[in-house]
Amino acid sequence: MAKTKSKWVCQSCGYQNASYLGRCPECGQFGTFVEETVSVKIESSKPSNIISQCKISKIKEIELDEKIRFKTSINELNRVLGGGFVQGSLILLAGDPGIGKSTLVLQTTKSVCEQKLDDKNLKVLYICAEESPLQVKLRAKRLDVEPDSLYLTNQTCIDEVITQIESIKPDFLIVDSIQSVFCANIASSAGSVSQIRECTNVLMRIAKQKNITTIIIGHVTKEGNIAGPKVLEHMVDCVINFEGDKYKHYRILRCIKNRFGTISEVGVFKMEDDGLIEIASPAQMLLDEPQNAPGSAITATMEGSRVLLHEIQALVGSTNYTNPRRVAVGLEYNRLLQVLAVLEKKVGLNLSKQDVYVNVVGGIDIIEPSYDLALALAIISSIRDIPISNKTIIIGEVGLLGEIRYVDNIERRLKEAQKLGFKKAIIPKVSDKISKKISDINLEIKQVSKLTDAIIQGLKQD
Ligand code: TYD
Ligand code: MG
Repeated sequence: MAKTKSKWVCQSCGYQNASYLGRCPECGQFGTFVEETVSVKIESSKPSNIISQCKISKIKEIELDEKIRFKTSINELNRVLGGGFVQGSLILLAGDPGIGKSTLVLQTTKSVCEQKLDDKNLKVLYICAEESPLQVKLRAKRLDVEPDSLYLTNQTCIDEVITQIESIKPDFLIVDSIQSVFCANIASSAGSVSQIRECTNVLMRIAKQKNITTIIIGHVTKEGNIAGPKVLEHMVDCVINFEGDKYKHYRILRCIKNRFGTISEVGVFKMEDDGLIEIASPAQMLLDEPQNAPGSAITATMEGSRVLLHEIQALVGSTNYTNPRRVAVGLEYNRLLQVLAVLEKKVGLNLSKQDVYVNVVGGIDIIEPSYDLALALAIISSIRDIPISNKTIIIGEVGLLGEIRYVDNIERRLKEAQKLGFKKAIIPKVSDKISKKISDINLEIKQVSKLTDAIIQGLKQD
């Protein structure tokens, strides 16, 4: 028996209420409530064996069943997944529209289909809910991915998808995208929170029951959330974000949740005419031609176990407005404000009549705080109109007291800089042990403990 029930659901966070609310009490967004109708199945009687099925076990007595991992030929993807896809796991691949999610999964199917399980090639069912199979075929031809055991369907009704799964019995399932499939039981449109949640639930059940490795593609909203609900992130085993500037070539694959491995590694790709190309040593990729002009500073950040070099550019100019502008592209806005506050208080600059624009070249956001010092020096360099050499690498976090704080993996960052032909490094004070370790690196290393010392070193013209 089924009855229909209506509820109001916040499209931003999934909060539910019996009536309309102007502001969501959960996430604080305004005007996000939409009425959704669901039909609720009423079970005639509860299965009485539910309680008897649950048993308590000692942790030592639970037998480990080793999960099979499918390694792909894309090493950057294996690295992010912690060694390949775990059989029967549910993976969410999220990213902006047009970033290359469909391209990545399609390229992955090639090496998945070449693998064998019980002497048979793995079967992949690709639900192309956004495009027609013909469009996918055209792309596959261009990418030279046409394996025998890859099946396509453009079925968008999840109940029909299940019927197809039962007839084809795939080992891998790709749902492109979760915002375009729907469950017939729910009256709201595809892409709404209830639909996404229900469809993911159904897919999760089938993935675990039939041991099908499932990749769900999800678009990201303007605010940077996986469209609709955060709830999706809790349900899946693994969440991978595909990031980058879609008007530029470089892409970073970042794992933000992984039940079967670490989340510290990233994968780096370049989008070319013939698909995504892996970049095994990405250190220099974002540094095409670092400028030797005032306002530019180079820093090294860690992405997983690898070093990436970034050029930070700053432009400081006077303004006639009472509220000067602060613009940060590629790094955190609040960190910019913090560094500006330290520059005002500890270095004595007056920035109240100055606009400040900063940009990280390359279109990839920097997340860890080791770029603070390079940011501060780029700003000073722009104000004083004195360039910092493009052969100087600047690493360090700026504290509120104007002190330069230590960051991890200094040795690795310096070694990479040395390899790429840098001559000088400005770094925080390090322990004697690390000092010894970095002493044989062929760089003129300046350890600084205060922002003012770092400025003197950075702007010094050799
Ligand atoms: P796509 O995988 O469709 O993005 P998503 O599924 O995340 O929305 O790829 C989108 C862009 O990638 C598209 O604008 C064109 C570009 N592209 C290439 O540059 N080279 C290629 O070989 C392919 C397949 C796509
Ligand atoms: Mg797509």
